[in-house]
Parts: sequence; structure tokens; C-alpha cells
Amino acid sequence: MSAPEPVVQVLLDSDWASGSLVADVRQGLGSRPLRLPPKWLYDDEGSRLFDQITRLPEYYPTEAERSILAAYAADIVAACDATTVVELGSGTSDKTRLLLDAFAGAGALHRFVPVDVSEQTLRDAAVMLTERYPETAVEAIVGDFTLHLGHLPEGQRRLVAFLGSTIGNLYLEERGAFLGALADSLDPGDWLLLGTDLVKDADRLVAAYDDAQGVTEAFVRNCLVVLNRELGADFDPDRFDYAPLWDSRMGRMDLRLRSTAPQTVRVPGADLVVEIAAGEEVQVEISTKFRREQVARELGAAGFEVRETWTDPAGDFAVTLARLT
Ligand code: AVJ
Repeated sequence: MSAPEPVVQVLLDSDWASGSLVADVRQGLGSRPLRLPPKWLYDDEGSRLFDQITRLPEYYPTEAERSILAAYAADIVAACDATTVVELGSGTSDKTRLLLDAFAGAGALHRFVPVDVSEQTLRDAAVMLTERYPETAVEAIVGDFTLHLGHLPEGQRRLVAFLGSTIGNLYLEERGAFLGALADSLDPGDWLLLGTDLVKDADRLVAAYDDAQGVTEAFVRNCLVVLNRELGADFDPDRFDYAPLWDSRMGRMDLRLRSTAPQTVRVPGADLVVEIAAGEEVQVEISTKFRREQVARELGAAGFEVRETWTDPAGDFAVTLARLT
């Protein structure tokens, strides 16, 4: 018997340079402070480097979240009544299999909807998932979770999994807008399973984003390579230093590139010429670290009520189950 075919809905233009990359770069490099949205870090090379980051000894979040899902997947399934699981930013759905196995084992995995910007990664994952869960309809969406929440399939009780502390890449206002849009696209009684990295010692945080092998530095620098390739920009990555910092007041790691000299950078695809001063920084990515009360507060503001929170034994990471009221 052959496995059923996954359904893949493409909502994103496969041409990266079209549409939102140009808009994002115009906005981010057209004003001060200079900023580049982190979603453009994940081209093929960026995805490969991120995968390498998750296996670094200093980078604890991936293992911490995996251990939570391994220990509590059955509890998560028992605590909610969903039969459709949606995963935002699913990638290879690697850790998610722990959750999906528990849903499938309980006979509750009628449909799985992975959503990701990377079409090839998603297609490969969808084929693997249909083989692993032959009873489950796999309906993948190539899309951007900040733009395409209106396309989530309806008709069954849904659990939206947003793992990996990806929400921490968004600024506070962006998180509010995202959670509000998610609430709008769901029905009361639907569920959210949210992974969040927690505040901890500055030393450990800095080490996790400034690893000894320099993989994170290469990952952050790759954004310049993406702009050179996609928009014909002439960034010289060697004229920037990697400058990560822990901002304790804002509760976030702030990953920046600092210009080592005055320079003029041309970005023809965005119709921009950017004068960058010596010492001026480009903000590439933030990684917010949460406290449990803050997670509950931000979820509550969007209409989600926390049902249960699980952490790893060290208290490094949290997985929160919340219900839309
Ligand atoms: C994918 C957003 C969870 O913020 O820890 C890792 C991305 N950037 N190292 C994080 C990242 C640099 C990562 N998330």
C-alpha cells in the first residue's frame, strides 16, 4: 500500500526578491537605526547554519524544548481536545514528531498542517510525515506566519504549535500584532502551544549566541550575503564585526553587525544607497527571553488563557498550552 499524497498549498512567491524582501529592506535600511528582519536569514545556507546552531554545546534551547515535549507530549494531548495540529515555522517538524506521535497514539491526529516559508524543506517534511502518519491528512502551507494566518483550515478543533521560541524574534508590538491576528484566525476553544526561552544567567545567554565555533556569527553575517545575491547589493561582510549583546532591560539578546569603517553600500534591487558610519550597527535579530508571567500577560492580552506550563528540570525553557476564550 502506498502512502497518501500530501497536499501542498503555495501562498508564497518562490522568487525571494519579489514583494516583501524589497519592502522589508527599504524600510529597514531606509531609516535609522538600520535593521534587517530576521526572516531573511533563512535561505538554504541560513537554514543549514541554524540547524548546526541547534547542535552546538552552548545552544541549550533546542534540547531543552525537546526534553519537555518528550516528557509531556501525552499530557499535552490529554489536556486539549484538538484533532487538527497546525505548526507555524515548522521546518523539518523534527521535535514536533514527539507531539504528533502522542496525538496519533491517542487516535486524535486527523489532520496536520505544517506552515513554513521554505518550500523544499516543507515538501520533504510533508512526504516524510504522510509516510509516518498514514491515517492523517497532511495539508502543508508554504507561507509566512505573519501574513497568511487567514488560510488555516477550518472544521475541526485546532491546536496551533509555535515552537522553538520563534516568537522571541518579534519585537513586543509585533508579538501583540501576531497573537492578535492568530486569535482572529482561530475560534474560541482552539488551542495554542507556545515555546518560549526563559530569562537566565547573562553568561549562558551570551555564550548561546556567541559560540566558540563562530556558527552563530556566520548565521547572522549570512543576511548580507542574502542581500548581495537577491538584491544585487555590494555589502562586504568583512567590513562588519559581529556584535551580540544581552539587553537585560528589554530582556533580549540583540544580534547586530557593526560597521568597522565608513562605507557606502548600494542595494539596487531596493533602489537604495546606504551611508554607514564607522561603528554604526545593523540590527539583524533579537531573541527575547521571557518570564512566565510575561508569557501569560501577552497571551491574555490577545484573548488566550493559559491552561498549563511545562518546563525542563533546569527551568531554561517553557512550553505553554493556552486556550482561546
Ligand atoms: C530560531 C528564533 C529560536 O532566537 O534562539 C539562534 C534563532 N539566532 N541563534 C533563537 C537564532 C541565533 C533562534 N530562534
